[in-house]
Amino acid sequence: NRYKVVVCRNLGPDVMPLLEERSELDLVVWPEDRACDRAWLLENIQGAAGVIVMLTDKVNPELLDKAGPSLRVVSTMSVGYEHVDLKAAAQRGLKVGYTPDVLTDAVADLSVMLALMAGRNGGIGTSVVQNGHATYRFVLKWQNYSWAPFGFCGPQLSTTAASPTRKIGFLGFGRIAQATLARLVPFGITHCLYSSNPSSPPNHARDAELSRKYNLQAVEKASVDEVARESDVLFVLAPGGADTYHLVNEALLKKMKKTSIIVNASRGTLVDSDALAKALKEGWIWGAGLDVVEGEPHVPIDHPLVKEPRCVIVPHIASATLETRRDMATRAAQNLIAAILGVQMPAQVDLAGFS
Ligand code: GLV
Ligand code: GLV
Repeated sequence: NRYKVVVCRNLGPDVMPLLEERSELDLVVWPEDRACDRAWLLENIQGAAGVIVMLTDKVNPELLDKAGPSLRVVSTMSVGYEHVDLKAAAQRGLKVGYTPDVLTDAVADLSVMLALMAGRNGGIGTSVVQNGHATYRFVLKWQNYSWAPFGFCGPQLSTTAASPTRKIGFLGFGRIAQATLARLVPFGITHCLYSSNPSSPPNHARDAELSRKYNLQAVEKASVDEVARESDVLFVLAPGGADTYHLVNEALLKKMKKTSIIVNASRGTLVDSDALAKALKEGWIWGAGLDVVEGEPHVPIDHPLVKEPRCVIVPHIASATLETRRDMATRAAQNLIAAILGVQMPAQVDLAGFS
């Protein structure tokens, strides 16, 4: 038997051979170095048994119907899968693969970077040096600036003798959040508060174990409001989609500490960009570090959030290490191959709730 497989992005010289060496697969690979055209995908998906998609490819009933009854598997090279209509996939008896675990460390690393960048004026600091000037409450020229007692000061992530508590908050407390927590322990943080999927019960045993392991005063599940109110740094690390849309909004931002930092390395849809821009401009919170922004990459370059000196924005690169992206591509290929061969996929999205 031969199976047509559509690959929406070239997975590179290390990973493409995993697919190419499978003689039962007929590969159709989007040839360009940009997100694949919808029209190309809709045409080429017809009669396919499998497809490897990116988070930029919307997998909806239109696409699945174009593929027809030959389709067995949708494999996304991402841990997030809100771009895949799971109900539509379940109704058609499809398998859906994703890439958890392999990117946990890379995303946690970047989350810490963003917290530090935002708190310590990393964005404005590099920009004033590289461009010679920057606007930061006033116009700053590097050549005119000399080391000043309180120049470029921001809130410190690590504890000090005079300031011995730090509360870290998480909206979403999955693998990436817990890996981020582990990285912050050496900074001397003292409390971890989190909120997560309301339908999952509190896990007191796990929390007590984490608290012991990291020698923290508390690891505690709390309401979204309480997490926002208490946190020195609030990490948004929850799945995207309708359930978490604008979880961080004006009302929540108003509850946060004036010296607090917010980091988003999940999906732009979780944070209301207009509200965040206002919060930063009016000083409700101190700073923000964002890997993702609503509507990216088609955000107006003059959007107040993009112009905001206290907001550090990077272009959705949290998992972008050479090692991790290779592992994600490998996992996406392995998931697809396993589903087509009818064996256990390395990482399959649970569709039980949809059938
Ligand atoms: C990246 O955002 C991913 O979901 O893997
Ligand atoms: C700063 O550069 C210092 O020497 O304290």
